[in-house]
Amino acid sequence: LSILSVASEAVPLIKTGGLADVAGALPAALAPYDIKLTTLLPGYPSVRRALDNNKPIHKWANLLGEEARLLAGEIAGHPLLVLDCPMLFDRDGSPYTDNAGHDWEDNWRRFAAFGRAAADIAGGAVKGRGFDLIHAHDWQAGLAPAYLRFAPPRQLKRAMPSAMTIHNMAFQGYFPATIFDALGLPGNAWALDGVEYHGGVGFLKAGLESAGAITTVSPTYAREIRTGEFGMGLEGLIVSRGERVSGIVNGIDTVQWNPETDRAIASPFSVRTLARRTANKRALEQEFALEPGDGPLFVVVSRLTWQKGLDVLLDVLDHLVSLGGRLALLGSGDVALEQAYLSAAARHPGRITIRTGYDEALSHRLQAGGDAILIPSRFEPCGLTQLYGLRYGCVPIVARTGGLADTVIDANLAALSIGVATGIQFDGVTPAALRAAIERAIALWQHPDDWRSIQRAGMKQDFSWRSSGAAYAALYRSLCAPRAI
Ligand code: ADP
Ligand code: GLC
Repeated sequence: LSILSVASEAVPLIKTGGLADVAGALPAALAPYDIKLTTLLPGYPSVRRALDNNKPIHKWANLLGEEARLLAGEIAGHPLLVLDCPMLFDRDGSPYTDNAGHDWEDNWRRFAAFGRAAADIAGGAVKGRGFDLIHAHDWQAGLAPAYLRFAPPRQLKRAMPSAMTIHNMAFQGYFPATIFDALGLPGNAWALDGVEYHGGVGFLKAGLESAGAITTVSPTYAREIRTGEFGMGLEGLIVSRGERVSGIVNGIDTVQWNPETDRAIASPFSVRTLARRTANKRALEQEFALEPGDGPLFVVVSRLTWQKGLDVLLDVLDHLVSLGGRLALLGSGDVALEQAYLSAAARHPGRITIRTGYDEALSHRLQAGGDAILIPSRFEPCGLTQLYGLRYGCVPIVARTGGLADTVIDANLAALSIGVATGIQFDGVTPAALRAAIERAIALWQHPDDWRSIQRAGMKQDFSWRSSGAAYAALYRSLCAPRAI
């Protein structure tokens, strides 16, 4: 099968969050199943730089009012297509915001054009490139299945199978009704089961209504989004799509994230040579100017946003330090949260150190040197940092939600006694619950045998893409199979 995977981010070319890790990993994850995935990305500056000299393989004279070209290249050895449209994508700042953090005003046009181009490509408008199915990720790609359904390219002879993956229900791409006319969709697309959403246009909603299958990135999140608390308004739609909604947990790139061969860390180690891990902890203490302590070294690697619950962690930091704990945090995002963490660090020199910004190599050193990684997310579709923590012996302490609930086994007495515990879970993102979880972690850490057993059990788990790759392969095949009438 030949699949067009449409995403706004993919490592190693462009990344703001876990979507990039997943979109970047999927082609290799599907290759063993004889499925060829071609990734389509917008031509952001970092993406274009990767293929500047390539000749265009297709041109649009008028893609929602812009001239655009399609470039072909490779991403990590797999086929890549890039929508080159400098007016829309060649700008400084993040993919979604300017340098001051404000959403680009024309985001609707940028990602409508992306969806239109994706539908054209999947539908056969580009000579020599045929696809069996389109797989759209998140709201930025949400209009692609809608264009295929309501305004397919003329080359398309039969309905194109499609899948839509929700990486985060909180971002829906919602825009005012006034943009509808500019989308080039027929009037019947403005409907309850089309792109209309609360009197405006919903890009994610349009994709979810139009795709043949909906997946999200963990089974628990697939259940949670059927409820008002997590569905963010789309719970009714999710429930109505019934069996077509499933959860496939993300894998991780086990080559990039391998503590035995990781070049970013001071002392490579494995489950058999756990003692070598200590050198990474010492190096991290030095790098973060932390005093050696008689309690565990907690770490955080995260976007600083409401989703991640790090405002709640702020409330328990004094307590964490009073129990002998220390904290090394790497994060960026909400400016008020950054400031609050910096002042907590100023209150506790040598015990709490904060690095703001984005630093991939440092995120590896934190996982290799920290005793435990704190992830108090209010919701978490999958989460990758707990998976990296498990693989690196950095014990995850997580809120029991979404993919965190699915991938961490709580160190309750029963799990501990049979050696399967891999971390700590807590219910409800409140200061009291997080404080209790931290106290449990500290008590366990004081029993080195228990702690090592938790580390080892986590490191032995298989978080490769093997089983999730098989699940996507099965989904693609079922969508492409000729239907019995
Ligand atoms: P989300 O996509 O919601 O941010 P995930 O846990 O799925 O959450 O993915 C986050 C990814 O971004 C992980 O690969 C994590 O290591 C990385 N990351 C987050 N913040 C930073 C940072 N400040 N520096 C380096 N990597 C980061
Ligand atoms: C989103 C979610 C995160 C998930 C990632 C990749 O950013 O917030 O939980 O791991 O997508 O699927």
